[in-house]
Amino acid sequence: MTTTKLLKTAGLVAVLAYASSASAQDDSQLVINGEIEMITEVATQDYIGGLKTAYSGWRFRNSDMQAMQLDDFENPAAIAVDEGLASWSKVDGSEGKSCASCHEDLEASMAGVRAVYPKWNEEAGAVMTLASQINNCRTEQMGAEAWKYDGTEMTGMEAVISLQSRGMPVNVAVDGPAHDAWLKGEEIYYTRYGQLELSCANCHEDNADNYIRADHLSQGQINGFPAFRLKTGGLVQVQNRFKGCIRDTRAETFKPGSEEFVALELYVASRGNGLSVEAPSVRP
Ligand code: HEC
Ligand code: HEC
Repeated sequence: MTTTKLLKTAGLVAVLAYASSASAQDDSQLVINGEIEMITEVATQDYIGGLKTAYSGWRFRNSDMQAMQLDDFENPAAIAVDEGLASWSKVDGSEGKSCASCHEDLEASMAGVRAVYPKWNEEAGAVMTLASQINNCRTEQMGAEAWKYDGTEMTGMEAVISLQSRGMPVNVAVDGPAHDAWLKGEEIYYTRYGQLELSCANCHEDNADNYIRADHLSQGQINGFPAFRLKTGGLVQVQNRFKGCIRDTRAETFKPGSEEFVALELYVASRGNGLSVEAPSVRP
Protein backbone atom coordinates (compact mmCIF):
# COMPACT_ATOMS: atom_id res chain seq x y z
CA MET A 1 0.00 0.00 0.00
CA THR A 2 1.41 3.40 -0.89
CA THR A 3 1.71 6.04 1.75
CA THR A 4 -0.85 8.19 0.03
CA LYS A 5 -3.37 5.38 0.18
CA LEU A 6 -2.55 4.89 3.81
CA LEU A 7 -3.32 8.50 4.50
CA LYS A 8 -6.54 8.31 2.51
CA THR A 9 -7.68 5.24 4.43
CA ALA A 10 -6.80 6.79 7.77
CA GLY A 11 -8.60 9.87 6.57
CA LEU A 12 -11.78 8.06 5.73
CA VAL A 13 -12.00 6.44 9.15
CA ALA A 14 -11.39 9.74 10.87
CA VAL A 15 -13.84 11.61 8.65
CA LEU A 16 -16.57 9.32 9.90
CA ALA A 17 -15.53 9.94 13.49
CA TYR A 18 -15.29 13.70 13.06
CA ALA A 19 -18.23 14.24 10.77
CA SER A 20 -19.31 17.38 12.60
CA SER A 21 -16.04 19.25 12.12
CA ALA A 22 -15.68 22.21 9.82
CA SER A 23 -14.79 21.37 6.26
CA ALA A 24 -13.10 23.39 3.55
CA GLN A 25 -16.30 23.16 1.60
CA ASP A 26 -18.38 24.89 4.25
CA ASP A 27 -19.17 28.49 3.53
CA SER A 28 -18.29 29.98 6.91
CA GLN A 29 -16.98 33.52 6.71
CA LEU A 30 -14.22 35.05 8.77
CA VAL A 31 -15.07 38.59 9.81
CA ILE A 32 -12.83 39.80 12.61
CA ASN A 33 -14.29 42.06 15.30
CA GLY A 34 -17.42 42.23 13.19
CA GLU A 35 -15.71 44.51 10.68
CA ILE A 36 -12.56 43.15 8.99
CA GLU A 37 -13.67 40.79 6.22
CA MET A 38 -11.15 38.10 5.39
CA ILE A 39 -10.74 36.34 2.07
CA THR A 40 -10.45 32.67 3.05
CA GLU A 41 -11.03 31.18 -0.39
CA VAL A 42 -9.60 32.31 -3.72
CA ALA A 43 -8.74 30.94 -7.18
CA THR A 44 -5.00 30.30 -7.43
CA GLN A 45 -2.76 31.79 -10.09
CA ASP A 46 -2.05 29.74 -13.23
CA TYR A 47 1.52 29.06 -12.17
CA ILE A 48 0.30 26.92 -9.26
CA GLY A 49 -0.12 23.66 -11.13
CA GLY A 50 -1.66 21.33 -8.56
CA LEU A 51 -4.10 23.62 -6.80
CA LYS A 52 -7.16 25.35 -8.24
CA THR A 53 -8.60 26.98 -5.12
CA ALA A 54 -6.66 28.22 -2.11
CA TYR A 55 -8.32 27.99 1.32
CA SER A 56 -7.06 29.58 4.49
CA GLY A 57 -6.23 27.11 7.25
CA TRP A 58 -9.04 28.76 9.23
CA ARG A 59 -11.59 26.99 7.04
CA PHE A 60 -10.37 23.59 8.27
CA ARG A 61 -10.64 24.31 11.97
CA ASN A 62 -13.60 23.34 14.12
CA SER A 63 -16.06 26.03 15.13
CA ASP A 64 -14.59 26.51 18.64
CA MET A 65 -11.16 27.25 17.24
CA GLN A 66 -12.60 29.39 14.46
CA ALA A 67 -14.41 31.48 17.05
CA MET A 68 -11.13 32.41 18.78
CA GLN A 69 -10.20 34.40 15.70
CA LEU A 70 -13.49 36.25 15.33
CA ASP A 71 -12.80 38.62 18.18
CA ASP A 72 -9.42 40.01 19.18
CA PHE A 73 -10.36 39.71 22.85
CA GLU A 74 -10.58 35.94 22.36
CA ASN A 75 -7.33 35.67 20.42
CA PRO A 76 -4.61 34.25 22.69
CA ALA A 77 -1.88 35.94 20.60
CA ALA A 78 -2.73 39.28 22.24
CA ILE A 79 0.09 39.07 24.81
CA ALA A 80 2.74 38.38 22.18
CA VAL A 81 1.37 41.24 20.10
CA ASP A 82 1.71 43.59 23.08
CA GLU A 83 5.32 42.52 23.51
CA GLY A 84 5.98 43.15 19.83
CA LEU A 85 4.45 46.57 20.16
CA ALA A 86 6.69 47.39 23.12
CA SER A 87 9.83 46.32 21.29
CA TRP A 88 8.94 48.55 18.29
CA SER A 89 9.89 51.59 20.36
CA LYS A 90 12.57 49.96 22.50
CA VAL A 91 16.09 51.36 21.99
CA ASP A 92 18.68 48.64 21.39
CA GLY A 93 22.20 48.42 19.93
CA SER A 94 25.20 50.70 19.51
CA GLU A 95 23.35 53.37 17.49
CA GLY A 96 20.89 54.12 20.28
CA LYS A 97 17.90 53.60 18.03
CA SER A 98 14.59 51.78 18.08
CA CYS A 99 12.52 50.71 15.07
CA ALA A 100 10.36 53.75 15.71
CA SER A 101 13.38 56.11 15.45
CA CYS A 102 13.43 55.53 11.69
CA HIS A 103 10.04 54.08 10.77
CA GLU A 104 8.07 56.25 13.20
CA ASP A 105 4.40 55.32 13.16
CA LEU A 106 3.97 51.55 12.98
CA GLU A 107 0.61 51.69 11.25
CA ALA A 108 1.65 54.16 8.59
CA SER A 109 5.06 52.67 7.82
CA MET A 110 4.19 48.98 7.90
CA ALA A 111 0.73 48.86 6.25
CA GLY A 112 0.86 46.40 3.35
CA VAL A 113 4.41 45.22 4.07
CA ARG A 114 3.56 41.72 5.30
CA ALA A 115 1.43 41.03 2.22
CA VAL A 116 4.38 41.26 -0.19
CA TYR A 117 7.00 39.31 1.78
CA PRO A 118 9.13 37.31 1.01
CA LYS A 119 10.39 39.83 -1.49
CA TRP A 120 13.50 40.44 -3.61
CA ASN A 121 15.95 42.87 -2.04
CA GLU A 122 18.15 44.57 -4.60
CA GLU A 123 20.92 45.57 -2.23
CA ALA A 124 21.21 42.12 -0.67
CA GLY A 125 20.86 40.45 -4.07
CA ALA A 126 18.56 37.89 -2.49
CA VAL A 127 14.97 37.18 -1.55
CA MET A 128 14.31 38.40 1.96
CA THR A 129 11.65 37.23 4.35
CA LEU A 130 10.09 39.62 6.82
CA ALA A 131 12.25 38.05 9.52
CA SER A 132 15.49 38.48 7.56
CA GLN A 133 14.55 42.09 6.77
CA ILE A 134 13.93 42.79 10.46
CA ASN A 135 17.27 41.26 11.42
CA ASN A 136 18.94 43.23 8.66
CA CYS A 137 17.63 46.44 10.24
CA ARG A 138 18.80 45.30 13.64
CA THR A 139 22.36 44.51 12.57
CA GLU A 140 22.89 47.14 9.82
CA GLN A 141 20.79 50.05 11.07
CA MET A 142 20.75 49.68 14.85
CA GLY A 143 24.08 48.02 15.60
CA ALA A 144 22.09 45.46 17.56
CA GLU A 145 22.36 41.70 17.63
CA ALA A 146 20.22 39.68 15.28
CA TRP A 147 17.25 38.05 16.96
CA LYS A 148 16.95 34.28 16.85
CA TYR A 149 15.23 33.68 13.52
CA ASP A 150 12.22 31.85 14.97
CA GLY A 151 12.51 33.15 18.54
CA THR A 152 9.97 34.98 20.67
CA GLU A 153 11.13 38.55 19.93
CA MET A 154 11.13 37.97 16.19
CA THR A 155 7.75 36.27 16.20
CA GLY A 156 6.17 39.04 18.28
CA MET A 157 7.57 41.71 15.96
CA GLU A 158 6.37 39.82 12.89
CA ALA A 159 2.91 39.58 14.44
CA VAL A 160 2.67 43.28 15.13
CA ILE A 161 3.89 44.15 11.62
CA SER A 162 1.53 41.60 10.05
CA LEU A 163 -1.41 43.12 11.89
CA GLN A 164 -0.92 46.33 9.88
CA SER A 165 -1.78 44.30 6.75
CA ARG A 166 -4.63 42.31 8.20
CA GLY A 167 -7.30 41.65 5.61
CA MET A 168 -5.10 42.67 2.67
CA PRO A 169 -4.56 40.03 0.00
CA VAL A 170 -1.21 38.26 -0.01
CA ASN A 171 0.61 39.38 -3.12
CA VAL A 172 4.14 38.02 -3.37
CA ALA A 173 6.03 38.46 -6.65
CA VAL A 174 7.24 35.23 -8.22
CA ASP A 175 8.76 36.61 -11.39
CA GLY A 176 11.76 38.82 -12.14
CA PRO A 177 14.77 38.37 -9.89
CA ALA A 178 12.75 36.29 -7.37
CA HIS A 179 11.94 33.62 -9.93
CA ASP A 180 14.95 31.36 -9.29
CA ALA A 181 14.18 31.18 -5.59
CA TRP A 182 10.52 30.53 -6.37
CA LEU A 183 11.45 27.60 -8.64
CA LYS A 184 13.67 26.20 -5.94
CA GLY A 185 10.82 26.49 -3.44
CA GLU A 186 8.50 24.68 -5.81
CA GLU A 187 11.00 21.86 -6.19
CA ILE A 188 11.33 21.47 -2.42
CA TYR A 189 7.53 21.44 -2.06
CA TYR A 190 7.27 18.40 -4.31
CA THR A 191 10.32 16.52 -3.01
CA ARG A 192 9.68 13.47 -0.83
CA TYR A 193 11.66 13.62 2.40
CA GLY A 194 12.47 11.29 5.24
CA GLN A 195 11.77 7.70 6.10
CA LEU A 196 8.12 8.24 5.27
CA GLU A 197 9.04 9.63 1.84
CA LEU A 198 6.42 12.34 1.97
CA SER A 199 6.46 15.70 0.24
CA CYS A 200 4.56 18.77 1.37
CA ALA A 201 2.25 18.12 -1.60
CA ASN A 202 1.49 14.54 -0.52
CA CYS A 203 -0.18 15.87 2.59
CA HIS A 204 -1.27 19.43 1.79
CA GLU A 205 -2.27 19.00 -1.86
CA ASP A 206 -3.24 15.34 -2.32
CA ASN A 207 -4.80 14.92 1.10
CA ALA A 208 -6.05 18.37 2.09
CA ASP A 209 -9.46 18.02 3.76
CA ASN A 210 -8.66 14.42 4.74
CA TYR A 211 -7.72 13.38 8.25
CA ILE A 212 -4.41 12.11 9.46
CA ARG A 213 -5.14 10.63 12.85
CA ALA A 214 -7.18 13.38 14.56
CA ASP A 215 -5.72 16.19 12.42
CA HIS A 216 -7.90 17.74 9.75
CA LEU A 217 -5.35 18.44 7.03
CA SER A 218 -5.39 21.91 5.55
CA GLN A 219 -3.54 23.11 2.48
CA GLY A 220 -0.67 24.28 4.67
CA GLN A 221 -1.20 27.93 3.70
CA ILE A 222 0.86 30.57 5.50
CA ASN A 223 -1.37 33.65 5.34
CA GLY A 224 -2.09 33.18 9.07
CA PHE A 225 1.55 33.24 10.23
CA PRO A 226 2.91 33.83 12.76
CA ALA A 227 0.15 31.69 14.23
CA PHE A 228 -0.79 31.01 17.83
CA ARG A 229 -0.67 27.26 18.29
CA LEU A 230 -2.88 25.93 21.04
CA LYS A 231 -0.69 22.82 21.16
CA THR A 232 2.40 24.75 22.24
CA GLY A 233 0.63 27.74 23.78
CA GLY A 234 2.67 30.28 21.85
CA LEU A 235 3.15 32.12 18.60
CA VAL A 236 4.91 30.05 15.97
CA GLN A 237 7.11 31.42 13.23
CA VAL A 238 6.29 30.11 9.77
CA GLN A 239 9.62 28.41 9.16
CA ASN A 240 9.40 26.78 12.56
CA ARG A 241 6.12 25.28 11.32
CA PHE A 242 7.87 23.98 8.19
CA LYS A 243 10.53 22.45 10.42
CA GLY A 244 7.90 20.63 12.48
CA CYS A 245 6.19 19.23 9.39
CA ILE A 246 9.43 17.95 7.89
CA ARG A 247 10.42 16.42 11.20
CA ASP A 248 7.11 14.55 11.25
CA THR A 249 8.24 12.75 8.11
CA ARG A 250 11.32 11.68 10.10
CA ALA A 251 13.64 13.70 7.89
CA GLU A 252 16.56 15.93 8.68
CA THR A 253 15.22 19.42 8.33
CA PHE A 254 16.56 22.67 6.94
CA LYS A 255 17.30 25.47 9.38
CA PRO A 256 14.96 28.43 9.85
CA GLY A 257 16.51 31.26 7.84
CA SER A 258 18.28 28.89 5.43
CA GLU A 259 18.20 29.57 1.70
CA GLU A 260 16.03 26.48 1.24
CA PHE A 261 13.38 27.58 3.74
CA VAL A 262 13.36 31.13 2.36
CA ALA A 263 12.70 29.71 -1.11
CA LEU A 264 10.03 27.39 0.27
CA GLU A 265 8.35 30.26 2.13
CA LEU A 266 8.18 32.31 -1.07
CA TYR A 267 6.68 29.41 -3.00
CA VAL A 268 4.13 28.48 -0.31
CA ALA A 269 3.14 32.15 0.07
CA SER A 270 2.47 32.28 -3.68
CA ARG A 271 0.14 29.27 -3.43
CA GLY A 272 -2.00 31.54 -1.27
CA ASN A 273 -1.69 34.77 -3.25
CA GLY A 274 -5.06 36.48 -2.90
CA LEU A 275 -5.90 35.11 0.56
CA SER A 276 -6.10 37.74 3.29
CA VAL A 277 -3.22 38.28 5.67
CA GLU A 278 -4.74 36.73 8.78
CA ALA A 279 -1.86 36.83 11.24
CA PRO A 280 -1.87 36.23 14.12
CA SER A 281 -4.20 33.31 13.51
CA VAL A 282 -5.21 30.58 15.96
CA ARG A 283 -4.32 27.03 15.01
CA PRO A 284 -4.12 23.58 16.62
C1 HEC B 1 18.41 53.61 11.32
C2 HEC B 1 17.14 53.46 10.68
C3 HEC B 1 16.39 52.15 10.82
C4 HEC B 1 16.08 51.46 11.98
C5 HEC B 1 16.48 51.80 13.38
C6 HEC B 1 15.25 50.35 11.59
N1 HEC B 1 15.07 50.35 10.25
FE1 HEC B 1 13.87 49.12 9.18
N2 HEC B 1 14.45 50.01 7.44
C7 HEC B 1 15.32 51.08 7.36
C8 HEC B 1 15.55 51.39 5.95
C9 HEC B 1 16.46 52.48 5.43
C10 HEC B 1 14.77 50.46 5.21
C11 HEC B 1 14.64 50.35 3.69
C12 HEC B 1 15.88 49.87 3.06
C13 HEC B 1 16.12 48.42 3.25
O1 HEC B 1 15.44 47.63 2.59
O2 HEC B 1 16.97 48.05 4.08
C14 HEC B 1 14.09 49.62 6.18
C15 HEC B 1 13.21 48.61 5.84
C16 HEC B 1 12.46 47.89 6.76
C17 HEC B 1 11.42 46.94 6.41
C18 HEC B 1 10.95 46.60 5.00
C19 HEC B 1 9.90 47.58 4.55
C20 HEC B 1 9.40 47.35 3.15
O3 HEC B 1 8.58 48.15 2.71
O4 HEC B 1 9.83 46.39 2.49
C21 HEC B 1 10.94 46.41 7.58
C22 HEC B 1 9.84 45.37 7.72
C23 HEC B 1 11.68 47.04 8.65
N3 HEC B 1 12.58 47.92 8.13
C24 HEC B 1 11.48 46.75 9.99
C25 HEC B 1 12.26 47.29 11.01
C26 HEC B 1 12.14 46.88 12.40
C27 HEC B 1 11.16 45.87 12.94
C28 HEC B 1 13.06 47.61 13.10
C29 HEC B 1 13.39 47.52 14.56
C30 HEC B 1 13.76 46.18 15.06
C31 HEC B 1 13.74 48.49 12.15
N4 HEC B 1 13.25 48.25 10.90
C32 HEC B 1 14.72 49.42 12.46
C33 HEC B 1 15.85 51.78 8.41
C34 HEC B 1 15.76 51.43 9.73
C1 HEC C 1 2.62 13.80 6.97
C2 HEC C 1 1.83 14.89 6.48
C3 HEC C 1 2.47 16.26 6.36
C4 HEC C 1 3.54 16.63 5.57
C5 HEC C 1 4.42 15.76 4.70
C6 HEC C 1 3.66 18.06 5.73
N1 HEC C 1 2.71 18.53 6.59
FE1 HEC C 1 2.33 20.46 7.02
N2 HEC C 1 0.87 19.88 8.36
C7 HEC C 1 0.48 18.59 8.60
C8 HEC C 1 -0.55 18.57 9.61
C9 HEC C 1 -1.24 17.34 10.17
C10 HEC C 1 -0.77 19.92 9.97
C11 HEC C 1 -1.78 20.45 11.01
C12 HEC C 1 -3.15 20.55 10.38
C13 HEC C 1 -3.17 21.56 9.26
O1 HEC C 1 -3.15 22.77 9.54
O2 HEC C 1 -3.13 21.13 8.08
C14 HEC C 1 0.12 20.71 9.14
C15 HEC C 1 0.17 22.10 9.15
C16 HEC C 1 0.95 22.86 8.30
C17 HEC C 1 0.93 24.31 8.27
C18 HEC C 1 0.04 25.21 9.10
C19 HEC C 1 -1.15 25.68 8.31
C20 HEC C 1 -2.05 26.60 9.08
O3 HEC C 1 -2.93 27.25 8.48
O4 HEC C 1 -1.92 26.69 10.30
C21 HEC C 1 1.84 24.69 7.32
C22 HEC C 1 2.17 26.11 6.91
C23 HEC C 1 2.41 23.49 6.77
N3 HEC C 1 1.86 22.40 7.40
C24 HEC C 1 3.39 23.46 5.79
C25 HEC C 1 4.03 22.31 5.32
C26 HEC C 1 5.13 22.31 4.39
C27 HEC C 1 5.71 23.53 3.71
C28 HEC C 1 5.49 21.00 4.22
C29 HEC C 1 6.65 20.44 3.42
C30 HEC C 1 7.97 20.88 3.85
C31 HEC C 1 4.59 20.20 5.04
N4 HEC C 1 3.73 21.03 5.70
C32 HEC C 1 4.62 18.82 5.10
C33 HEC C 1 0.96 17.47 7.95
C34 HEC C 1 1.98 17.45 7.02
